[in-house]
Amino acid sequence: MASLPAATIIPARRVRGRLRVPGDKSISHRYAFLAALAAGRSELRNYAPGADCRSTLTCLGALGVTVALSSSAASVDGRGLGPLRAPSAPLDAGNSGTTMRMLAGILAAQPFDSTLVGDASLSRRPMRRVIDPLLEMGARIDAVDGHAPLTIHGAPLRSIDFRPAIPSAQVKSAVLLAGLHASGATSVTERVRTRDHTERALQAFGYPVQVNGLTVSIEGGRPGIGRELDIPGDFSSAAFWMVAAAALPDSEVVIEGVGLNPTRTALVDVLRRFGARVQVEESGPSAGEPSGTIIVSGVAVGSVDVAPDEVPALIDELPAIAALASHGGRVSVRGATELRVKESDRIGSLVAGFRALGIAADEHPDGFVIHGSGQPSGGVADARGDHRLAMAFAIAALSARSPSRIEGSDAVAISYPTFFETLDRLVL
Ligand code: S3P
Repeated sequence: MASLPAATIIPARRVRGRLRVPGDKSISHRYAFLAALAAGRSELRNYAPGADCRSTLTCLGALGVTVALSSSAASVDGRGLGPLRAPSAPLDAGNSGTTMRMLAGILAAQPFDSTLVGDASLSRRPMRRVIDPLLEMGARIDAVDGHAPLTIHGAPLRSIDFRPAIPSAQVKSAVLLAGLHASGATSVTERVRTRDHTERALQAFGYPVQVNGLTVSIEGGRPGIGRELDIPGDFSSAAFWMVAAAALPDSEVVIEGVGLNPTRTALVDVLRRFGARVQVEESGPSAGEPSGTIIVSGVAVGSVDVAPDEVPALIDELPAIAALASHGGRVSVRGATELRVKESDRIGSLVAGFRALGIAADEHPDGFVIHGSGQPSGGVADARGDHRLAMAFAIAALSARSPSRIEGSDAVAISYPTFFETLDRLVL
């Protein structure tokens, strides 16, 4: 069998430097979808460069939307809320759960049948959570035991008032996108607030959205207008440098132009509880998404418990948070069963990888506990095709005694293609 691409991580004493991270993945997907359904052209500057957001553009292209991607922006010629073009082949969402779930909401309303496929990881991830509300709205969807491939038989949709059982911004967004095409007002009421980029993006494009506490409603049949929008740096990518700076004494990183949406920044509080110094300077909102500069310096080896009610706001940062305790201290995360159905089983794979690096880790059905003590040995950790695990293992391996190997390190291309170049620049 061909061996997977592997990165070698040389131990480092500290990380220092000033940097920017690539455009936000969650916001890029939403802007692309909402631009496609708006009237006129949109220019989405700093569109996320990873493979996931490319999957979204490729699927939109296959549906007759004219899209162009340059190194600095995506331009999208919106088609309004009229029918898209029936695709001539299955639409491939690759590794991207956000592409598959959000696009399902749009396809549910189209006057044609379409099939959504994904890679092996995405084909294992649960889709019932998005299928059920779309069935209620009037679409028919065939799945394989609740998994992709999904064949969507689009239909005229009726509005619903939906109360998701699982906190999921992807599911909320899929229902709202379907709601744009439905008759009447569709609402989603969450029990726990999830990231609100869709609500902000709907507003930025001028769609008739209303937010009232934990309820979002959208009026169907009224298209938005194409816009020029700036996408801030991805906080979830910045998280790896924030953790590296917090975990390695005498470190400091300054991250500029990063998204500071309050539904995404709970890591700041976790790092402070761990003992790190974190400064956040907001530089003003751009079309409703705040951004600014984050400065993190490590001053202590600490201990932090992430409680179940914090999990939805930290869901993508939990692998990075584990690396906080890679050479000392303790990190406990519970109430995070949802991690088992991410790009990999992010509990089992994370614990296996940390142990392979010589870091003590306990596995629980709903989380993990990392016990750092002195310098770990280093070793060979397998990212199991998961971009966030590849980056978490790389950060954890910085504090080891000897070089480590991260197998499957090419997975970083999903969200942060230049991760290892930036790592080289920051380590001392
Ligand atoms: C995302 C929502 C989260 C997150 C994912 C991106 C989004 O997933 O983990 O990486 O852009 O809406 P869930 O909606 O499944 O919680």
